[in-house]
Amino acid sequence: MGKKKIKSPRWVVPQGMQPTDMDLRILEWQAKGKLVPTRNLVRTQGQIEGIRKAGALNTAVLDAVAEMVAEGISTLDIDRTVYEYTTAHGGIPAPLHYEGFPASCCTSINDVVCHGIPCEEDILEEGDIVNVDCTTILDGYYADASRMFVIGKTTPERQRLVDVAWECLKIGERVCAEPYVFVGDIGNAIAGHAHSCGMTVVRDLCGHGVGVDFHEDPEVVHYGRKGTGMLLVPGMTFTIEPMINAGDWYVCGDEEDETEWIVLTEDGSDSAQWEHTYLMTDNGVEILTH
Ligand code: MF3
Ligand code: CO
Ligand code: CO
Repeated sequence: MGKKKIKSPRWVVPQGMQPTDMDLRILEWQAKGKLVPTRNLVRTQGQIEGIRKAGALNTAVLDAVAEMVAEGISTLDIDRTVYEYTTAHGGIPAPLHYEGFPASCCTSINDVVCHGIPCEEDILEEGDIVNVDCTTILDGYYADASRMFVIGKTTPERQRLVDVAWECLKIGERVCAEPYVFVGDIGNAIAGHAHSCGMTVVRDLCGHGVGVDFHEDPEVVHYGRKGTGMLLVPGMTFTIEPMINAGDWYVCGDEEDETEWIVLTEDGSDSAQWEHTYLMTDNGVEILTH
């Protein structure tokens, strides 16, 4: 007779403790076979304060970027601003040396979906749309956010893409107006909006838990079915960061990129993305990178 493996439950009420209302709600979903968080994903008050402070600095970094982004500057200029501002305020840019990433932030222009590498040769031109993605470590805590910048005046198509990507983030946020929703509820709403606008959602990359580490559970996919993926409960911190393509959703690497970080749209169409770090509370999400 083969031995049957018994899967230990993800959520357990500690010995001798009275289950809280939250415990009971999570246990109920767990019994129904849904993916529930593990307890370490529910942050302590101390962790939340730390992540909140990292979020405030990350926002200030992106504000500093917003001040200097302009036609004619290079993406390396942006990177220098991110490095200088972050370190001058006691933080560390999380991307720098992260799994071989060579810079302090990601700068993704036009058909670059994400993980674009700042460099001296990439000069911002009128009409470009560029995503700047910053993650700040402060006192060991992480916060992650990105914004789109439009250089001068762009085409109506590009402007629409930037706007729809923003709307997708806000729609994901609205799904999280209450706790005990599923990651798949977010993705379903985001993809619904993108598709209704004739655009597509990148599937190969997703949002993520963040705060104690750079990339944690859950995976926050930006497409999918309602009721799938992890249950989001008060105390969890995570990103939503939809990458929206004007053409097809397929992505590919850049042959010339030795780091293998840069992600492009396969069909060369434009891509846009916005990102925030959120805290789920009893009353829905709070933005920690505002
Ligand atoms: N900030 C990105 C994210 O949203 C991750 C960048 S990883 C890096 O998850 F190494 F490229 F910076
Ligand atoms: Co990011
Ligand atoms: Co992120």
